[in-house]
Amino acid sequence: MPSSKAWHQFKKWAEEYGPIYSLMLGPSNVMIVLSSDEAVKELLDKRSGVYSSRPPLYIGNMISGWMRMLLMEYGKTWRFVRSLVHDHLNIRASISYVPYQDLENRQMLLGFLESPERWVDHMRRYTNALTTQMVFGFRTVDINDVNMHKLFECVEDWASTFGTVQAQLLDIFPILQRLPDVLVPVKKKARALHAKELELYLIHWNKLKQDAHNGTANPCFAADMVLAQAKSQEKADTLTDNQASYLLGSLHEAGSDTTWSTLIGFIQAMLLFPDVARTAQEEIDRVCGDRLPTMEDEPKMQYIRGCVKESLRWMPTAILGIVRAPTKDDVYQGYRIPKGAMVMLNVWALHNNEAHFPNPRAFDPSRYATDFQTSSEAAHNADFSKRDQYTFGAGRRLCQGMHIAERSLFLAISRLLWAFDFSMQKDELENDIVPDADALTDGVLVRPKEFPAVVTPRSEKKAEAVRAEWAKVEGKLDERGQWKRVPEGMFSKEYVPLVG
Ligand code: HEM
Repeated sequence: MPSSKAWHQFKKWAEEYGPIYSLMLGPSNVMIVLSSDEAVKELLDKRSGVYSSRPPLYIGNMISGWMRMLLMEYGKTWRFVRSLVHDHLNIRASISYVPYQDLENRQMLLGFLESPERWVDHMRRYTNALTTQMVFGFRTVDINDVNMHKLFECVEDWASTFGTVQAQLLDIFPILQRLPDVLVPVKKKARALHAKELELYLIHWNKLKQDAHNGTANPCFAADMVLAQAKSQEKADTLTDNQASYLLGSLHEAGSDTTWSTLIGFIQAMLLFPDVARTAQEEIDRVCGDRLPTMEDEPKMQYIRGCVKESLRWMPTAILGIVRAPTKDDVYQGYRIPKGAMVMLNVWALHNNEAHFPNPRAFDPSRYATDFQTSSEAAHNADFSKRDQYTFGAGRRLCQGMHIAERSLFLAISRLLWAFDFSMQKDELENDIVPDADALTDGVLVRPKEFPAVVTPRSEKKAEAVRAEWAKVEGKLDERGQWKRVPEGMFSKEYVPLVG
């Protein structure tokens, strides 16, 4: 198994061995790699009743205290959690969060104007503040917020540790799981990471619980969870603080890191493909002129819609998907797929398939010029050739936050290009510092390695407009920067928990 940039090797093998091939890992583990639209549609989508579980993923689960939804095996607990999350992330609920996205986006634009060198952190705060608001009912106000930075560290540690060869060895040779930590350092690391994550998740949960008891909590997912916990205690099938905080914490993390990484990829693409930025700005200027783009403009901005899709395709943060395990033996095109095998969605190979995406390393939003589907519609389209990209996964485990993510990406991309130009930084000899699009971080979730970018307002008029747009919403916030009163219609629901 390649220990670094594994996606290149998995693509190479797909070219050599075809759209479905397997690797023997140790004496009895088999990994099956899916690299064609047809195979993904047939297995992960159409046979999702069989392909929606996860393998044991010992280290990933150890870090998560076996409570992280993303890694849960298919079954009663996962179904319960999934339905709970669905209430808060379905399309109707997602649309209700647009005022949150709008406000956080305006603060991000102001940040790009006032401290452009911190552009990475402004985007980090944008995605993070949206999720703290939806999940815990408060905004992350400051780009130096300690808990925000800790959250991103936790995701990075989790995603990189669980993807290592040492971690995989414990799944291949389960006997190693029983060895003491001194002999298996990755176990020691996993325990420490779990403690760090849990401590962080409990800070937010305990605070919200206190607010809920004081009657000062905003409508949010966690407030519903407090009610759920109280009911579970009445029925003596307790939803523990650790479980509740983990579910919310991992949602907070799922929503922050992935959108942020995708946006970093987008900024890199704007440096490498300046013609795309110019074409996008022409469309934005034609549709919006001097006013800020809004979600209502989306149907009129097919090129920006293409930028969103292309950002997800070009630098897919879940570059090899999140591995699945069939719950029973299966047969596909004469191949036997054993129960419990690891099944990989070879996202990188699918996204760089010349037949589906000609000249795939070019960032070219016009390839989606006639694709009017949302990501969800494309994922559910029976015609596999109409699939836009696989970064949100596939089948029954498809990302539940995709409706929110698409809106966050549209607002960020359209407004950043409305207000700013992006260019490469120069070195001391006045040569461009060209970012390397192949230099991605390693792990289950990737993003471009750090690169410099110069951010400049497109004109003084635009700079003024950014300040004015922030001034319009600033009055809605109190002296701590929190909503005085959250907008009407924010989703919150009393539900009956089924834990146990
Ligand atoms: C660009 C942004 C995002 C990307 C690329 C992304 C990607 C993914 C991927 C690859 C999965 C696993 C799918 C599979 O196994 O096939 C997933 C699952 C999930 N995502 Fe996202 N995600 C994004 C944004 C969000 C947001 C904003 C939220 C919530 C606020 C969210 C919530 C979830 C949840 C709850 C799951 C778990 C589904 C399950 O295990 O059944 N995601 N996401």
